[in-house]
Amino acid sequence: MADLRKLFYPDSIAIVGASRHPGKIGYMILKNLIEYGYRGKIYPVNPNADEIMGLKCYPRVSAIPEPVDVVVVSVPAPKVPEVIEDAGKAGAKFAVVISSGFKEVGNVELENKIVEIAHKYGMRILGPNIFGYVYTPAKINATFGPRDVIEGNVAFVSQSGALGIALMGMTILEKIGVSAIISIGNKSDLDDADFLEYFADDPQTKVVIFYIEGVKDGKRFIEMAARTTLKKPVIAIKAGRTEAGARAAASHTGSLAGNIAIYNAAFKQGGVLVARTVEEAFDWVKSFSWNPLPQGDNLVIITNGGGAGVQATDTLADFGIFLKKPPSYTVEEVKKFVPPFASLANPIDITGMAPTEWYYKALVAALRDPEVHSIVVLYCHTAVTDPMGVAQNIVAAIKDTGIRKPITVSLIGGKECYEAIRYLTEHQIPAYPTPERAAAAMAIMYKYLEAREYVSKRLEEISKE
Ligand code: COA
Repeated sequence: MADLRKLFYPDSIAIVGASRHPGKIGYMILKNLIEYGYRGKIYPVNPNADEIMGLKCYPRVSAIPEPVDVVVVSVPAPKVPEVIEDAGKAGAKFAVVISSGFKEVGNVELENKIVEIAHKYGMRILGPNIFGYVYTPAKINATFGPRDVIEGNVAFVSQSGALGIALMGMTILEKIGVSAIISIGNKSDLDDADFLEYFADDPQTKVVIFYIEGVKDGKRFIEMAARTTLKKPVIAIKAGRTEAGARAAASHTGSLAGNIAIYNAAFKQGGVLVARTVEEAFDWVKSFSWNPLPQGDNLVIITNGGGAGVQATDTLADFGIFLKKPPSYTVEEVKKFVPPFASLANPIDITGMAPTEWYYKALVAALRDPEVHSIVVLYCHTAVTDPMGVAQNIVAAIKDTGIRKPITVSLIGGKECYEAIRYLTEHQIPAYPTPERAAAAMAIMYKYLEAREYVSKRLEEISKE
């Protein structure tokens, strides 16, 4: 078992290859680390400079007068072994190797060599071929990605570097707060399972998401995923789910994407929720990150349009989730203000003439109804009802009742709907432009509960054997 505490809560970080030149990776990592607010000691290491960004520069790690916990390495691959040797001798605990030019281009020997040297000194390696790592509880942004990552409860682990950086930017755009972003690249030493093990027990992390091309040790991955699933959801975007994709992955990080059927079976055993697309994964992440888990299976849809309600119902059915009759308290409350032609089955259709306050009243009723466990709110853009007004009423209903239940929303229509979605996003209410996405983001919470149950039973059976 890897003890990752000092990677996430280091007293000091050295950047080997910290550069004086803006635009270089070693410059950006140092800048991000300083500006994101890391409070431990930062040591730039560069034999060709005395000082960088106002910090004294050291020629090598072993010249630093105090012990260093983490060494971020950003020098060309052929120089990495001597850096690892020196850092290991100096007692560093982790080397975060940014440099490319290892297994992904066939340099397996060089990669094995750095791991061998590191292990000689009890040091662990993250990478190589990575963009670094973020851990917001310790204010660490040791990446050359965007600086202003939002603090939150999502741990994101990416095997792909460039896509990982891009997704890091997307978390900022989508207002998704993260606890961690880890680039694991070639996984020469630390791998997915090590991070699962850490995040399972990390109180700062509520949901874990992986971008995976290939897994090194399938059995251990399943075991760690299962243990994590018992505590929090694990989502995977599995790249290489077609033969063509698998070939592309093999030439990328040098790992075999393997047979997708085998992966699917493994993911099922570990309770992993597999997203087909980046969009789907982010939709789900918002739902898990911002919602509590449903406390029962009575899901109610509130809509002003029959068609949107049907689309959402179909999507739920695709996930194996079927709507029940809406509970009587909610129905009686809604009956008080809707016209007689409103359909009060589930979906509850408050009709196309619904003003914004009907959304407020219907949502308040559903929130107060102890028999309603989760709510999907749908709105089709009409000229009689302002999308922003609907969004504001949704926020007000939650605030006024003080009740948090799982809610997903879809505002379907033009530009004003996008602004209203933005408003809801800022209030951490998962909102989407289509009813299918809102329904799927709710359905996945139920799929998680099923997966947790499945894993729990499976582990119980194993323990009896
Ligand atoms: N110890 C410490 N610093 C050293 C050094 C050593 N042994 N040898 C050289 N340096 C200094 C250099 O002087 C330079 O500083 P300067 O710019 O102030 O002169 C700095 O370290 C960087 O070295 P340089 O040789 O200029 O390398 P580079 O910045 O052009 O490239 C990498 C280094 C690691 C970025 C590059 O080799 C690489 O692998 N790039 C790809 C990274 C990547 O894409 N990773 C995957 C992400 S998804």
